[in-house]
Parts: sequence; C-alpha cells; structure tokens
Amino acid sequence: MEILSFSNGILKILDQRKLPFSNEYIICQDYREVVRAIKEMVVRGAPAISIAGAYAVAQAKGKKQDFERAAEEIMAARPTAVDLSNAVGFMLEGINAEKDEVELAKEWEDSIYEKCFNLCNHGAELIKENARVLTHCNTGPLAVGKHGTALGVLITAHKKGKNPFVWVDETRPRFQGALTSWELLQEHIPHKVIPDSSAGFLMQKEEVDLVIVGADRICKNGDFANKIGTYSLAVLAKHHGIPFYVAAPTSSLDLSLDTGKNIPIEKRDEREVLEPMGVRAYHRDSSAMNYAFDTTPADLVTGYITEEGVRKKP
Ligand code: MRU
Repeated sequence: MEILSFSNGILKILDQRKLPFSNEYIICQDYREVVRAIKEMVVRGAPAISIAGAYAVAQAKGKKQDFERAAEEIMAARPTAVDLSNAVGFMLEGINAEKDEVELAKEWEDSIYEKCFNLCNHGAELIKENARVLTHCNTGPLAVGKHGTALGVLITAHKKGKNPFVWVDETRPRFQGALTSWELLQEHIPHKVIPDSSAGFLMQKEEVDLVIVGADRICKNGDFANKIGTYSLAVLAKHHGIPFYVAAPTSSLDLSLDTGKNIPIEKRDEREVLEPMGVRAYHRDSSAMNYAFDTTPADLVTGYITEEGVRKKP
C-alpha cells in the first residue's frame, strides 16, 4: 500500500487517522495542506513527515510562493521530530544551489528509504530466535513510507525466520499501537496489544527479552526524544536488566544539541487525552496535560541502530 506519493505537484497521503478501518487518501495541492496534514497526524512518524515536508517545500517553490516562509511553517508543524527540519534544511540548501526542487525532494525520500532498509537489516541481527520484544508507538512502514525503523527491525527479523513475538504498547493517547498491530497482522507476526501500564509487570514476570523503540531526535550525547512513555520504558528496562535499543536513521540526529535538555517537546491538544478516539471520557470540567514526546537519557540505552550499524553511542 502506498503511504506517500507525489506527482504533478500533488502529494497524496494515506490518512493514518482512518486506519485500520478504512484506506483513504487525502490530496494536498499546496504546502499549507501538507502542513495541516502533518499537524493533524494524517501522516506521522518522524521519517514520513520529513518526506511530506520535503515535498511541501517543493510545492511552495514550484508555485513561486515565498518558499522560505513556507519552510518555517513546515518545520513548526511538528517541532520535536528533527527529521522534518533536516529535510527542510536539505531542500533549502539544494534550492539555493539552483537544483530542481522535485528532484531534491525525491532524493530525500529515496535516501530515507535506503537508510531505513539498511538499519532494519543491521537491527535484525540483534534479534535472537523466538525473542519476546516490547515496542512503543508505531515505527513500521507507515511511520517512514517504507521499511520502518524499530518495527521494521522486527519485520525483517521475522522475514529472516527468527520468529519474534511482539508486545505492542497501545500508546495512549493516540493509540499508535493500533497501527502497529495492523502492520504486524499483515506480516503474520504473533503479537499482543497491552495497555502502556502493563509493561513493568510483564518485565517483572520475565516475559520481555528486549525493548526496541524509534526516535524523533537523537542528540550528540545519545539522549533522545521519542513518543511519550519511552522514558518510563527505558527506566523499567534498566531496572529489570533488559536490553533497550533505539532504531533510527541518521536523519533523526541533531548534532547541534549536546544533550536532550533543550529538545523542544511538542504539547498537543488536551482533547486527545480527554476524548480518546473522539469520545468524551471525562467530566466537562476535567483538564489534561498532553506532552506528545519525552526525553530518555543516553545512559539507559543499550545501543543505537542506524543505517551504519549498531553502536553504543550514536
Ligand atoms: O506522534 P507520532 O505518531 O508521529 O510519533 C512517532 C514516534 O514517536 C516514533 O517512534 C518516531 O517518530 C520514530 S518513527 C519511525
């Protein structure tokens, strides 16, 4: 299934908000429509939004709009995922060097797919036969466009005959676990969805051999941001002596930040918490805090899986 495609100035995006119940696409003819799609999580996952962002810059340039202003708006759509800013930076540099904007965006897209393909193969080497692996959020092909990152590692390990079993965090408040379960069903990979709060108990019962997650921004010292709940998992894994891996392409690196302290953390609308799946679950006077990401310190990470291999430090 095509997740993102670009032709004749139009970006077609699979609407992930509708999955797994229907396969619908939205059509973006203008960069502002892409910005809206990124903000509203029609397309999500750091590498996938970077590809959408690259094409959005190309659209602005192609229509002779103020593409530098457009670039600012695109980068601000989701501030934590550095892949998006890296993609926009790549586009601006290329456009200023008078390269063709659509070719540049395609080059970015292809480079993301190549990186993720390679990291999945490196990561699959780490997965032992019949390993029970816990993962968070959605990091499969949907989050990239192809291949995936952390979930891509597990899909690749499965294809190599390693027979992994996956514990799927449901990932409140937006339930990206539903996307992960859907992708695992298509690959016939055995798995069970768990409420996020079950992870500690499963680890205590020795039912988790490894934790693997993606990343939205990895700093110079290895601290990284990922979906809210990742930090708790890393602390739990450390406490139980379970290896904890981060899988991300190098497009998720931010070498301008020494540590995770200054990573901008996106805060989203409180209604995502108060109205799960659009249904009000709280009194009308209740309010909520909705950080979309958290930061995990490097000392909780066993290793980083990138397209270059597996390292103790990024
Ligand atoms: O808010 P989302 O669904 O975009 O968050 C996605 C994640 O946190 C992923 O783990 C991360 O982007 C890596 S995706 C390959």
